[in-house]
Amino acid sequence: MKNHMELQQLIDKLHKERSLLKEEWTALISGRTPELSEYLFLLAREERKRYYGTDVYIRGLIEFTNYCRNDCLYCGIRKSNSHARRYRLSEEDILSCCRTGYSLGFRTFVLQGGEDGYYTDERMVHLIHLIKRQYPDCALTLSIGEKSFESYKRFFDAGADRYLLRHETADFSHYKSLHPPALCAETRQECLWNLKKIGYQTGTGFMVGSPHQTAEHLAEDMLFIKRLNPHMAGIGPFIPHHDTPFSGEPAGTLELTLFMLGLLRLMLPKVLLPATTALGTIAGNGRELGILAGANVVMPNLSPAGVRRDYSLYDNKICTGDEAAECRTHLEKRIASTGCRIVTARGDSKI
Ligand code: 5AD
Repeated sequence: MKNHMELQQLIDKLHKERSLLKEEWTALISGRTPELSEYLFLLAREERKRYYGTDVYIRGLIEFTNYCRNDCLYCGIRKSNSHARRYRLSEEDILSCCRTGYSLGFRTFVLQGGEDGYYTDERMVHLIHLIKRQYPDCALTLSIGEKSFESYKRFFDAGADRYLLRHETADFSHYKSLHPPALCAETRQECLWNLKKIGYQTGTGFMVGSPHQTAEHLAEDMLFIKRLNPHMAGIGPFIPHHDTPFSGEPAGTLELTLFMLGLLRLMLPKVLLPATTALGTIAGNGRELGILAGANVVMPNLSPAGVRRDYSLYDNKICTGDEAAECRTHLEKRIASTGCRIVTARGDSKI
Protein backbone atom coordinates (compact mmCIF):
# COMPACT_ATOMS: atom_id res chain seq x y z
CA MET A 1 0.00 0.00 0.00
CA LYS A 2 1.31 3.42 -0.93
CA ASN A 3 0.66 6.43 1.28
CA HIS A 4 -1.08 9.65 0.30
CA MET A 5 2.17 11.38 -0.66
CA GLU A 6 3.27 8.53 -2.92
CA LEU A 7 -0.09 8.36 -4.64
CA GLN A 8 -0.13 12.11 -5.22
CA GLN A 9 3.31 11.75 -6.78
CA LEU A 10 1.87 9.16 -9.16
CA ILE A 11 -0.75 11.68 -10.27
CA ASP A 12 2.03 14.24 -10.80
CA LYS A 13 4.02 11.70 -12.78
CA LEU A 14 0.99 10.93 -14.95
CA HIS A 15 0.44 14.65 -15.47
CA LYS A 16 4.03 15.16 -16.54
CA GLU A 17 4.80 11.97 -18.47
CA ARG A 18 1.29 11.06 -19.67
CA SER A 19 1.73 7.44 -18.71
CA LEU A 20 2.30 5.09 -15.78
CA LEU A 21 3.53 1.54 -15.39
CA LYS A 22 0.97 -1.20 -14.85
CA GLU A 23 1.70 -1.55 -11.13
CA GLU A 24 1.52 2.24 -10.73
CA TRP A 25 -1.90 2.36 -12.37
CA THR A 26 -3.08 -0.44 -10.11
CA ALA A 27 -1.72 1.25 -6.97
CA LEU A 28 -3.27 4.59 -7.87
CA ILE A 29 -6.67 3.17 -8.80
CA SER A 30 -6.94 0.94 -5.75
CA GLY A 31 -5.49 3.56 -3.36
CA ARG A 32 -7.72 6.46 -4.48
CA THR A 33 -9.26 8.71 -1.83
CA PRO A 34 -11.60 11.70 -2.00
CA GLU A 35 -8.61 14.03 -1.49
CA LEU A 36 -6.65 12.47 -4.32
CA SER A 37 -9.73 12.63 -6.54
CA GLU A 38 -10.11 16.37 -5.93
CA TYR A 39 -6.48 16.90 -6.80
CA LEU A 40 -6.81 14.78 -9.95
CA PHE A 41 -9.97 16.58 -11.09
CA LEU A 42 -8.32 19.98 -10.65
CA LEU A 43 -5.48 18.97 -12.97
CA ALA A 44 -7.90 17.28 -15.39
CA ARG A 45 -10.00 20.46 -15.67
CA GLU A 46 -6.86 22.48 -16.33
CA GLU A 47 -5.86 20.13 -19.13
CA ARG A 48 -9.30 20.20 -20.69
CA LYS A 49 -9.30 23.99 -20.55
CA ARG A 50 -5.93 24.21 -22.25
CA TYR A 51 -7.22 22.46 -25.38
CA TYR A 52 -10.96 23.00 -25.33
CA GLY A 53 -11.56 26.07 -23.15
CA THR A 54 -15.05 25.78 -21.69
CA ASP A 55 -16.52 24.10 -24.78
CA VAL A 56 -18.58 20.95 -24.41
CA TYR A 57 -19.56 19.21 -27.65
CA ILE A 58 -22.93 17.60 -28.23
CA ARG A 59 -23.59 14.50 -30.31
CA GLY A 60 -27.07 13.47 -31.33
CA LEU A 61 -27.49 9.78 -30.61
CA ILE A 62 -29.87 7.88 -32.90
CA GLU A 63 -30.48 4.36 -31.59
CA PHE A 64 -31.73 2.97 -34.86
CA THR A 65 -32.10 -0.74 -34.11
CA ASN A 66 -32.14 -2.88 -31.00
CA TYR A 67 -31.95 -6.19 -32.85
CA CYS A 68 -28.63 -7.82 -32.01
CA ARG A 69 -27.03 -11.10 -32.97
CA ASN A 70 -24.76 -11.04 -29.94
CA ASP A 71 -25.43 -12.28 -26.46
CA CYS A 72 -23.25 -10.14 -24.20
CA LEU A 73 -23.99 -11.08 -20.62
CA TYR A 74 -24.39 -7.50 -19.39
CA CYS A 75 -26.54 -6.06 -22.15
CA GLY A 76 -30.33 -5.68 -22.09
CA ILE A 77 -30.67 -6.03 -25.87
CA ARG A 78 -28.75 -9.33 -25.98
CA LYS A 79 -30.15 -11.85 -28.41
CA SER A 80 -31.55 -14.20 -25.82
CA ASN A 81 -33.53 -11.55 -23.98
CA SER A 82 -36.95 -12.55 -25.24
CA HIS A 83 -38.58 -9.78 -23.20
CA ALA A 84 -36.92 -7.04 -25.22
CA ARG A 85 -39.41 -5.35 -27.56
CA ARG A 86 -37.47 -5.22 -30.80
CA TYR A 87 -37.63 -2.27 -33.18
CA ARG A 88 -35.81 -0.99 -36.17
CA LEU A 89 -36.09 2.57 -37.49
CA SER A 90 -36.69 3.05 -41.19
CA GLU A 91 -34.56 5.30 -43.35
CA GLU A 92 -37.28 7.96 -43.15
CA ASP A 93 -37.40 7.70 -39.36
CA ILE A 94 -33.64 8.15 -39.17
CA LEU A 95 -33.65 11.12 -41.52
CA SER A 96 -36.42 12.68 -39.50
CA CYS A 97 -34.26 12.33 -36.35
CA CYS A 98 -31.45 14.10 -38.21
CA ARG A 99 -33.80 16.88 -39.27
CA THR A 100 -34.96 17.47 -35.69
CA GLY A 101 -31.39 17.28 -34.48
CA TYR A 102 -30.08 19.67 -37.07
CA SER A 103 -32.67 22.28 -36.14
CA LEU A 104 -31.67 21.89 -32.48
CA GLY A 105 -28.06 22.66 -33.38
CA PHE A 106 -26.58 19.17 -33.60
CA ARG A 107 -23.71 18.87 -36.09
CA THR A 108 -22.77 15.28 -35.25
CA PHE A 109 -25.12 12.34 -35.63
CA VAL A 110 -24.27 9.03 -34.05
CA LEU A 111 -25.97 5.99 -35.55
CA GLN A 112 -25.87 3.37 -32.84
CA GLY A 113 -27.44 -0.05 -32.93
CA GLY A 114 -27.16 -3.70 -32.14
CA GLU A 115 -25.46 -5.97 -34.68
CA ASP A 116 -28.56 -6.25 -36.82
CA GLY A 117 -28.44 -8.45 -39.95
CA TYR A 118 -31.15 -6.38 -41.63
CA TYR A 119 -28.76 -3.47 -41.87
CA THR A 120 -26.46 -4.99 -44.47
CA ASP A 121 -23.42 -3.12 -45.78
CA GLU A 122 -25.46 -2.04 -48.80
CA ARG A 123 -28.22 -0.59 -46.64
CA MET A 124 -25.67 1.14 -44.39
CA VAL A 125 -23.81 2.63 -47.36
CA HIS A 126 -27.08 3.90 -48.77
CA LEU A 127 -28.02 5.47 -45.45
CA ILE A 128 -24.61 7.09 -45.03
CA HIS A 129 -24.84 8.60 -48.53
CA LEU A 130 -28.29 9.97 -47.81
CA ILE A 131 -27.32 11.59 -44.52
CA LYS A 132 -24.05 13.03 -45.78
CA ARG A 133 -25.74 14.43 -48.89
CA GLN A 134 -28.41 16.18 -46.84
CA TYR A 135 -26.06 17.30 -44.06
CA PRO A 136 -22.64 17.85 -45.60
CA ASP A 137 -21.64 20.11 -42.73
CA CYS A 138 -22.26 17.39 -40.12
CA ALA A 139 -20.04 14.60 -38.89
CA LEU A 140 -21.45 11.09 -39.02
CA THR A 141 -20.43 8.57 -36.38
CA LEU A 142 -21.21 4.87 -36.58
CA SER A 143 -21.51 2.55 -33.60
CA ILE A 144 -22.67 -0.77 -35.02
CA GLY A 145 -20.17 -3.25 -33.68
CA GLU A 146 -17.63 -5.63 -35.16
CA LYS A 147 -17.29 -5.72 -38.96
CA SER A 148 -14.62 -6.77 -41.44
CA PHE A 149 -11.93 -4.37 -42.58
CA GLU A 150 -13.67 -4.22 -45.96
CA SER A 151 -17.02 -3.23 -44.47
CA TYR A 152 -15.45 -0.52 -42.33
CA LYS A 153 -13.66 0.75 -45.42
CA ARG A 154 -16.88 0.84 -47.44
CA PHE A 155 -18.66 2.87 -44.77
CA PHE A 156 -15.71 5.24 -44.55
CA ASP A 157 -15.60 5.70 -48.32
CA ALA A 158 -19.34 6.37 -48.26
CA GLY A 159 -18.70 9.30 -45.91
CA ALA A 160 -18.75 8.05 -42.31
CA ASP A 161 -16.28 10.12 -40.29
CA ARG A 162 -16.08 8.45 -36.92
CA TYR A 163 -16.63 5.05 -35.30
CA LEU A 164 -17.30 4.08 -31.70
CA LEU A 165 -16.46 0.58 -30.53
CA ARG A 166 -15.67 0.09 -26.87
CA HIS A 167 -13.04 -2.51 -26.18
CA GLU A 168 -15.13 -3.23 -23.02
CA THR A 169 -12.17 -4.67 -21.08
CA ALA A 170 -8.59 -5.13 -22.25
CA ASP A 171 -8.02 -8.27 -20.19
CA PHE A 172 -8.61 -11.34 -22.34
CA SER A 173 -10.00 -13.62 -19.65
CA HIS A 174 -12.13 -10.85 -18.12
CA TYR A 175 -13.49 -10.25 -21.62
CA LYS A 176 -14.43 -13.93 -21.83
CA SER A 177 -16.33 -13.70 -18.55
CA LEU A 178 -18.54 -10.88 -19.90
CA HIS A 179 -19.22 -12.25 -23.37
CA PRO A 180 -20.52 -15.36 -25.13
CA PRO A 181 -17.90 -17.84 -26.41
CA ALA A 182 -18.16 -16.52 -29.97
CA LEU A 183 -16.66 -13.17 -28.99
CA CYS A 184 -13.08 -12.46 -27.99
CA ALA A 185 -11.00 -9.45 -26.99
CA GLU A 186 -8.47 -10.08 -29.74
CA THR A 187 -11.01 -9.61 -32.53
CA ARG A 188 -12.45 -6.61 -30.78
CA GLN A 189 -9.05 -4.94 -30.54
CA GLU A 190 -8.22 -5.89 -34.13
CA CYS A 191 -11.36 -4.03 -35.23
CA LEU A 192 -10.15 -0.91 -33.42
CA TRP A 193 -6.74 -1.02 -35.08
CA ASN A 194 -8.48 -1.45 -38.45
CA LEU A 195 -10.72 1.54 -37.82
CA LYS A 196 -7.70 3.69 -37.04
CA LYS A 197 -5.82 2.43 -40.07
CA ILE A 198 -8.73 3.31 -42.36
CA GLY A 199 -8.75 6.86 -41.05
CA TYR A 200 -11.78 7.04 -38.80
CA GLN A 201 -11.76 9.26 -35.76
CA THR A 202 -11.97 6.28 -33.48
CA GLY A 203 -13.52 5.89 -30.07
CA THR A 204 -13.00 3.06 -27.64
CA GLY A 205 -13.91 2.65 -23.97
CA PHE A 206 -14.98 0.36 -21.19
CA MET A 207 -17.49 -0.14 -18.43
CA VAL A 208 -16.44 0.71 -14.90
CA GLY A 209 -17.39 -1.82 -12.25
CA SER A 210 -18.40 -4.61 -14.60
CA PRO A 211 -18.68 -8.01 -12.86
CA HIS A 212 -15.31 -9.52 -11.83
CA GLN A 213 -13.41 -6.32 -12.71
CA THR A 214 -10.31 -5.58 -10.62
CA ALA A 215 -7.94 -2.61 -10.38
CA GLU A 216 -5.46 -4.64 -12.47
CA HIS A 217 -8.03 -4.93 -15.24
CA LEU A 218 -8.55 -1.17 -15.18
CA ALA A 219 -4.77 -0.73 -15.30
CA GLU A 220 -4.74 -2.87 -18.46
CA ASP A 221 -7.53 -0.74 -19.90
CA MET A 222 -5.41 2.37 -19.40
CA LEU A 223 -2.38 0.72 -21.00
CA PHE A 224 -4.44 -0.45 -23.98
CA ILE A 225 -5.97 3.00 -24.50
CA LYS A 226 -2.52 4.58 -24.29
CA ARG A 227 -1.27 2.24 -27.02
CA LEU A 228 -4.31 2.72 -29.23
CA ASN A 229 -4.28 6.49 -28.74
CA PRO A 230 -7.94 6.88 -29.74
CA HIS A 231 -9.64 10.17 -30.55
CA MET A 232 -12.46 9.38 -28.12
CA ALA A 233 -12.88 7.30 -24.98
CA GLY A 234 -16.34 6.47 -23.70
CA ILE A 235 -16.58 5.11 -20.20
CA GLY A 236 -19.55 4.67 -17.93
CA PRO A 237 -20.55 2.57 -14.95
CA PHE A 238 -21.87 -0.93 -15.49
CA ILE A 239 -25.56 -0.94 -14.54
CA PRO A 240 -27.37 -4.27 -14.18
CA HIS A 241 -30.30 -5.03 -16.47
CA HIS A 242 -33.06 -7.14 -14.92
CA ASP A 243 -33.34 -9.52 -17.91
CA THR A 244 -29.65 -10.50 -18.11
CA PRO A 245 -27.48 -13.05 -16.31
CA PHE A 246 -25.89 -10.09 -14.46
CA SER A 247 -29.20 -8.85 -13.05
CA GLY A 248 -28.05 -9.44 -9.47
CA GLU A 249 -24.60 -7.86 -9.82
CA PRO A 250 -23.83 -4.51 -8.21
CA ALA A 251 -23.53 -1.42 -10.40
CA GLY A 252 -20.25 0.39 -10.91
CA THR A 253 -19.83 3.45 -8.71
CA LEU A 254 -20.01 7.13 -9.51
CA GLU A 255 -16.83 7.73 -7.59
CA LEU A 256 -14.67 5.21 -9.47
CA THR A 257 -16.09 6.27 -12.86
CA LEU A 258 -15.21 9.90 -12.15
CA PHE A 259 -11.72 8.90 -11.03
CA MET A 260 -11.17 6.97 -14.29
CA LEU A 261 -12.40 9.99 -16.30
CA GLY A 262 -9.85 12.20 -14.56
CA LEU A 263 -7.06 9.70 -15.24
CA LEU A 264 -8.02 9.48 -18.92
CA ARG A 265 -7.95 13.27 -19.28
CA LEU A 266 -4.43 13.43 -17.81
CA MET A 267 -3.19 10.51 -19.89
CA LEU A 268 -4.61 11.81 -23.20
CA PRO A 269 -5.19 15.54 -22.68
CA LYS A 270 -6.81 16.10 -26.09
CA VAL A 271 -9.09 13.07 -26.06
CA LEU A 272 -12.84 13.56 -26.55
CA LEU A 273 -14.36 12.31 -23.34
CA PRO A 274 -18.12 11.93 -22.96
CA ALA A 275 -19.99 12.29 -19.71
CA THR A 276 -22.21 9.32 -20.53
CA THR A 277 -25.90 8.62 -20.09
CA ALA A 278 -24.98 5.71 -17.80
CA LEU A 279 -23.15 8.19 -15.55
CA GLY A 280 -26.24 10.40 -15.53
CA THR A 281 -28.31 7.33 -14.66
CA ILE A 282 -26.44 6.27 -11.51
CA ALA A 283 -26.50 9.84 -10.12
CA GLY A 284 -28.82 12.75 -10.87
CA ASN A 285 -25.88 15.09 -11.37
CA GLY A 286 -23.55 12.40 -12.75
CA ARG A 287 -22.93 14.08 -16.08
CA GLU A 288 -22.16 17.44 -14.47
CA LEU A 289 -19.70 15.73 -12.15
CA GLY A 290 -18.23 14.00 -15.20
CA ILE A 291 -17.60 17.39 -16.80
CA LEU A 292 -15.98 18.55 -13.56
CA ALA A 293 -13.70 15.48 -13.67
CA GLY A 294 -12.48 16.31 -17.18
CA ALA A 295 -15.16 15.18 -19.66
CA ASN A 296 -16.03 17.45 -22.61
CA VAL A 297 -18.75 15.70 -24.62
CA VAL A 298 -22.41 14.86 -24.01
CA MET A 299 -24.52 12.62 -26.21
CA PRO A 300 -28.21 13.33 -25.81
CA ASN A 301 -30.76 11.09 -27.42
CA LEU A 302 -32.40 11.96 -30.72
CA SER A 303 -34.25 8.67 -31.08
CA PRO A 304 -38.03 9.00 -31.52
CA ALA A 305 -39.77 9.10 -28.12
CA GLY A 306 -41.82 6.02 -29.04
CA VAL A 307 -38.84 3.65 -29.10
CA ARG A 308 -36.55 5.13 -26.48
CA ARG A 309 -37.64 2.88 -23.68
CA ASP A 310 -36.88 -0.13 -25.88
CA TYR A 311 -33.20 0.70 -26.37
CA SER A 312 -32.65 -0.58 -22.88
CA LEU A 313 -29.06 -1.67 -22.34
CA TYR A 314 -29.44 -1.27 -18.56
CA ASP A 315 -32.18 -0.44 -16.06
CA ASN A 316 -33.53 3.03 -15.25
CA LYS A 317 -31.90 4.77 -18.21
CA ILE A 318 -32.58 8.51 -18.06
CA CYS A 319 -34.31 10.70 -20.65
CA THR A 320 -36.39 7.87 -22.09
CA GLY A 321 -39.55 9.94 -21.67
CA ASP A 322 -38.28 13.24 -23.08
CA GLU A 323 -38.53 14.73 -26.51
CA ALA A 324 -35.21 15.58 -28.17
CA ALA A 325 -35.75 19.30 -27.64
CA GLU A 326 -36.45 18.84 -23.92
CA CYS A 327 -33.25 16.83 -23.54
CA ARG A 328 -31.29 19.54 -25.27
CA THR A 329 -32.67 22.33 -23.03
CA HIS A 330 -32.20 20.36 -19.80
CA LEU A 331 -28.67 19.51 -20.72
CA GLU A 332 -27.86 23.10 -21.63
CA LYS A 333 -28.78 24.15 -18.08
CA ARG A 334 -26.95 21.28 -16.45
CA ILE A 335 -23.74 21.94 -18.35
CA ALA A 336 -23.94 25.67 -17.65
CA SER A 337 -23.94 24.84 -13.93
CA THR A 338 -20.39 23.49 -14.33
CA GLY A 339 -19.05 26.71 -15.86
CA CYS A 340 -18.82 25.08 -19.30
CA ARG A 341 -21.10 25.65 -22.26
CA ILE A 342 -22.52 23.53 -25.02
CA VAL A 343 -21.27 24.47 -28.47
CA THR A 344 -22.77 23.40 -31.76
CA ALA A 345 -19.53 22.84 -33.66
CA ARG A 346 -18.82 19.45 -35.26
CA GLY A 347 -16.28 19.03 -32.51
CA ASP A 348 -13.60 17.14 -34.37
CA SER A 349 -10.75 15.60 -32.46
CA LYS A 350 -7.72 17.78 -31.85
CA ILE A 351 -5.31 14.86 -31.95
N1 5AD B 1 -24.40 -1.12 -18.19
C1 5AD B 1 -23.62 -0.14 -18.64
N2 5AD B 1 -23.20 -0.04 -19.92
C2 5AD B 1 -23.62 -0.99 -20.77
N3 5AD B 1 -23.38 -1.17 -22.07
C3 5AD B 1 -24.03 -2.26 -22.49
N4 5AD B 1 -24.71 -2.81 -21.46
C4 5AD B 1 -24.46 -2.04 -20.37
C5 5AD B 1 -24.84 -2.10 -19.01
N5 5AD B 1 -25.63 -3.07 -18.55
C6 5AD B 1 -22.43 -0.33 -22.82
C7 5AD B 1 -21.34 -1.18 -23.48
C8 5AD B 1 -21.54 -0.90 -24.95
C9 5AD B 1 -22.25 0.44 -24.95
C10 5AD B 1 -23.03 0.74 -26.18
O1 5AD B 1 -23.09 0.36 -23.84
O2 5AD B 1 -20.06 -0.73 -23.04
O3 5AD B 1 -20.34 -0.82 -25.68
